[in-house]
Amino acid sequence: TFVVTSACIDVKDTGCVSECPVDCIYEGDRKLYIHPDECIDCGACAAACPVDAIMNLKLVPEGEAEFIADEARFFHTLLPGRNTPVGAPGGAGKIGPLRVDTPFVAAYER
Ligand code: F3S
Ligand code: F3S
Repeated sequence: TFVVTSACIDVKDTGCVSECPVDCIYEGDRKLYIHPDECIDCGACAAACPVDAIMNLKLVPEGEAEFIADEARFFHTLLPGRNTPVGAPGGAGKIGPLRVDTPFVAAYER
């Protein structure tokens, strides 16, 4: 899978979204999140990001490693203000911007 790392936070160019053939890049409040189970590893999103925020899981540097676990947390844990986990919606377009982040991203200082 591919991972959205810190460079996306408060930038949110969104150029990556329309590149994804399976629409698995979901919009949070401060950054976007790639669904680890829906991503088919095509890599088109990474090339589209002007700040190189999107990386192959295997190439994420040590200092950004927490974002790997955090992408999963965005979908599979209960986020602030929500009654159910985001889960696996099968497409970001149909649910729209989620206006929430994981606690890790909400508190992230960059
Ligand atoms: Fe973020 Fe880059 Fe996409 S800044 S929204 S990962 S194009
Ligand atoms: Fe989509 Fe990027 Fe994965 S374009 S399929 S999120 S590698």
